[in-house]
Amino acid sequence: MIDQATIDRILNAAQIVDVVSEYVTLRRAGVNYKGLCPFHNEKTPSFVVSPAKGLCKCFSCGKGGNVVHFIMEHEQLSYYDALRFLAKKYHIEIHERELTDEEKQAQSLRESLFIVNHHAAEFFQNALHDTPEGVAVGMEYFRQRGFRDDIIRKFQLGYSPAARGAFAKEALQKGYKKEYLVKTGLCYEGNDGQLHDRFWGRVIFPVHTLSGKVVAFGGRVLKTDAKTAKYVNSPESEIYHKSNELYGIYLAKQAIMKQDCCFLVEGYTDVISMHQSGIENVVASSGTSLTTGQIQLIHRFTNNITVLYDGDSAGIKASLRGIDMLLKEGMNIKVVLLPDGDDPDSFARKHNSEEYQAYIKEHQIDFIRFKTNLLLQEADNDPIRKAALISDIVQSISVIPEAIKRSVYTKECSQLMQINENILVDEINKLKKKQAEKENHKANAGEAPGEQAAPAEEPRPAATAPPAEELNAQEKLIMQLIIRHGEKVICQLADDQGNETPITVAEYIANDLSRNEMAFHSPQHQTILDEVCQHIHESNFHAKRYFLSHPSPEISKLAADLSSDPYQLSKLYLKDQPDTPDEEQLYEETVHLMIDFKSFLIKDKLKHTLQMLQDPLLQKDERRFMEVMKQYKELNSLQSELAKHQGDRVILP
Ligand code: CTP
Ligand code: MN
Repeated sequence: MIDQATIDRILNAAQIVDVVSEYVTLRRAGVNYKGLCPFHNEKTPSFVVSPAKGLCKCFSCGKGGNVVHFIMEHEQLSYYDALRFLAKKYHIEIHERELTDEEKQAQSLRESLFIVNHHAAEFFQNALHDTPEGVAVGMEYFRQRGFRDDIIRKFQLGYSPAARGAFAKEALQKGYKKEYLVKTGLCYEGNDGQLHDRFWGRVIFPVHTLSGKVVAFGGRVLKTDAKTAKYVNSPESEIYHKSNELYGIYLAKQAIMKQDCCFLVEGYTDVISMHQSGIENVVASSGTSLTTGQIQLIHRFTNNITVLYDGDSAGIKASLRGIDMLLKEGMNIKVVLLPDGDDPDSFARKHNSEEYQAYIKEHQIDFIRFKTNLLLQEADNDPIRKAALISDIVQSISVIPEAIKRSVYTKECSQLMQINENILVDEINKLKKKQAEKENHKANAGEAPGEQAAPAEEPRPAATAPPAEELNAQEKLIMQLIIRHGEKVICQLADDQGNETPITVAEYIANDLSRNEMAFHSPQHQTILDEVCQHIHESNFHAKRYFLSHPSPEISKLAADLSSDPYQLSKLYLKDQPDTPDEEQLYEETVHLMIDFKSFLIKDKLKHTLQMLQDPLLQKDERRFMEVMKQYKELNSLQSELAKHQGDRVILP
């Protein structure tokens, strides 16, 4: 953990314009800068950077925040890793909070394994480029395959010498511990007690995590023969869980984000060749079927996946099942069949990027349509097989979470398969019911029995907007005020002796809430308010500065959002000086916002109480009924009291 003083130092050093312009070409626009948003594809700039506020924001896709949030989003790093990233750039020494002994041990094992992997990757690269054996054998192999040198470097490809202990020997000599060499799987202990290299005599493909650390290796034999496995891969370890990694994601993430689409292929070499031909939004599942973890990794960047299949692949049918999982996650899936005899790798070597893209564009078809056609061809009018096919397709459609998409597919399939649409709808409803029962069963196997949610039948009735959203919007306006002006004094409170105490925006709000036994609905909002009140009397306390550099990433992000959103109320009350309202203006604004907020809550409570009063059960219990009735009256008079004040809202010039 990084201590607060360090966070402050990093935020002071990392100037937003400076940081953003490494990724975006910025042009001055008045007091701000503008550029093309790096988080989505656009032609006219809507990404605005404000050096004065230290914030950036895309007014089209909404992404942005302070420097740390920008780096988190752009590099896909955690909050602390983003801080470390910036610290490194600005040469700031990091003071970490003391870890507990347990934390230290867990962390140091993981870190040690990454360090060993990092060293190994360098060793293999070095062996490839700078040893006669590596150049003659490894480089020769890659060049024959047509890999360019810059691509070999980009993917940090390497070579593990044919001597079986070459890496082990060097690593031990350099002081890397045997324990870590074995735990990473780079080496294993032979019967003779000697360390052997797992990847000896193979070319090396390092596998990177999302943030670019080497988490595993794949080693390919140079000559394909039936006796040796084509690939040897790192075993699972404390850092490597095959099902959570995707080959190529580190080098693809930005392109995936920009193109808003991810190509999915099978192998290491497919990814590499496609990069070489200029297509960078591509990852590989490395020969196994996709896992939920991998899908979620892609889902962080896009909703759209296009799967590339070899034209003659026998694996297509086997992988169809796996794709239901993508549908379930709400992804849009398309499929491209490559010409017979080509895989994504060989196709890339024959075509340039434009031709490749054009081929994909022309040949990509929607997954459900693809599957239906494929199975229809197979069924070949055999009624029994056709029945099986229908239930297969219906299964795929039933897992799609969006109702609209489901109904579009249902229509289309009914046409393709020449089946009455209603029959399909019935089938889908049956399956959905079954799925829901299964889920409930799973949930109930846990601790508390959850509410049994009945599955919605097709078509789902339109839901009305929940009042929670409106409430949240009201709270947000108050939170904006707290973040921007929380520490400012808005009035004096006089006691019996005539002593005056200054009251700040935040205190006024906190008092007003507690006087009425109310609280913010969002726990985060309440935390912020509580924290402001704790610190309000510290000299130089400045709410915005404090929360923008808050140690909790969620809270600092919220603060950034709140301070960069257009200030809606300023339009109403503070037309001329939105950033520096005077005491009286702030007072008016605080009071009005609170009146609006309280009225909203009361209205909601009134509605609720009224419903209670209509309950025949309550009506039988006279004592309880009178209690609720009393509450109702109180709320009612509170509401009319508030309404009086709501009327006189436009006092200010
Ligand atoms: N794979 C593996 N172990 C194997 C075979 C395959 O781990 N014995 C994984 C690798 O990640 C490989 C992917 O499955 O990249 C796809 O397999 P394949 O198409 O056979 O390999 P390519 O990488 O395409 O290799 P090449 O083109 O050199 O045959
Ligand atoms: Mn291949």
